[in-house]
Amino acid sequence: MLRRPLIAGNWKMYKNRDEAVALAGALKEGMTAKGEAPADALVCPPYPCLQSVGDALQGSPVELGAQNLYYQPEGAFTGEVTAEMLLSVGCSHVIIGHSERRQYFAEDDETVNKKVKRALQAGLVPVICVGEVLDERDKGITEQVVERQLSGGVQGLAAAELAKLVVAYEPVWAIGTGRTATPEQAQEVHAFLRVKLAGLYDQELADKTRILYGGSVKPENVAGLMECPDVDGGLVGGASLKADDFLKLIYYKG
Ligand code: 13P
Repeated sequence: MLRRPLIAGNWKMYKNRDEAVALAGALKEGMTAKGEAPADALVCPPYPCLQSVGDALQGSPVELGAQNLYYQPEGAFTGEVTAEMLLSVGCSHVIIGHSERRQYFAEDDETVNKKVKRALQAGLVPVICVGEVLDERDKGITEQVVERQLSGGVQGLAAAELAKLVVAYEPVWAIGTGRTATPEQAQEVHAFLRVKLAGLYDQELADKTRILYGGSVKPENVAGLMECPDVDGGLVGGASLKADDFLKLIYYKG
């Protein structure tokens, strides 16, 4: 089964509104000039920029996503946002369980699972992030870690609910370090995750789920990663903040 690649930009806590709108405008312009892309494109700006970035992307194929959400439908939860709020400003996707959320904001698999359920109920596509820290890789427990994160994240959900699921494998040691996983290392974990999805659900779901690689993806290394049969795109931090670089990733075939 052919999976259409997805190149997703996670802008993290970068870009104020004017900078974000300028970047979105440059992406739209670049894609209009270059024409049909070999991949779907998604950008995930900070919350305050979602509306204006969405406006700036109108008429382009670039989709809009958020970097997080809260699992309650509404209420007195100062500082949090709901799935419906994200939908109301044009989001189609939401990143859930990014390693920075797990590391700095104490998100565990149970919280990730609640957020995934809420996103799906509301009609947002969850991009569930998994990945080991360096110590776990050195100890040889990478597969155990990503398996726990994946099965914990989708716990209690049926295959039909996960039809559009996106998984992102982001080895924590490769994030923002310039130290990318080799295509072989990425492929090994991606293939493992796909086998696990087939075990948790069925081969059909495993075959259609896009598994993105994240961690220092750049124009110089994207082609090698995209050649891997189980790498279906990228979740990109640093290189998504410059229009030229991100366009090179979207048009990774040159
Ligand atoms: P970098 O591309 O900056 O390494 O970040 C990866 C990432 O965390 C994307 O979510």
